Amino acid sequence: MSSKLIAPSLLAADFANLQRDIEMVNQSNADWFHIDIMDGVFVPNISFGMPVLKAITKYTKKPVDVHLMIVDPDRYIKTFADLGSHHLTVHYEACTHLHRTLQAIKAEGMKAGVALNPHTNINVLEDTINDIDLVILMSVNPGFGGQSFIENTYKKIKELKELITRKGASTLIEIDGGVTTKNAKQLTDAGADVLVAGSFVFKSSNQIETIKELKAAANS
Ligand code: DX5
Ligand code: ZN
Repeated sequence: MSSKLIAPSLLAADFANLQRDIEMVNQSNADWFHIDIMDGVFVPNISFGMPVLKAITKYTKKPVDVHLMIVDPDRYIKTFADLGSHHLTVHYEACTHLHRTLQAIKAEGMKAGVALNPHTNINVLEDTINDIDLVILMSVNPGFGGQSFIENTYKKIKELKELITRKGASTLIEIDGGVTTKNAKQLTDAGADVLVAGSFVFKSSNQIETIKELKAAANS
């Protein structure tokens, strides 16, 4: 079984010390950088935009996993590729022509991801799963860090895993929101491949050690 990955979310980093926090992730045994882009329309919050992402990718030494919580993401696919995104994830709920959007992301040389809100059923991916490199299952309502984990996520992971296996797809399952060392093992046991963690990592007093513990729990 391949190793389970940890993706710290910079949304919970200290924005006045971003370079320091990025170097910490570079030095840790985290696998990816998770970057949350919010537009204040799709979600009730605005995080940061392109100039900040440009500054971030100047220092990142690991794959950059961009999670777009924006309406009409097609407008910015090329821009995010040019800014150094390795994975680009759009929300199912924000895409009228999801299949076309996925092709456009891949045409720019990025891995294509789809995120599902907590209320969105797995079955909407029945006809696209073979075209999706990763699915982000939202385990909180998107828009804010530091919220508590929605327990129904375990059931959704199992349903998504079943769909991936049944269709012979190689899609990764990523869990985003409320991840801690308390639920990491249960999430990967259910079938998750990647765990995003924001506040649990950045609010801890020893961030490198916390990432190490999360990775150990996810792979135990
Ligand atoms: C929420 C974002 C998450 C967020 C997770 O809308 O997509 O990536 O940073 O934060 P925590 O780990 O604090 O729930
Ligand atoms: Zn996210």
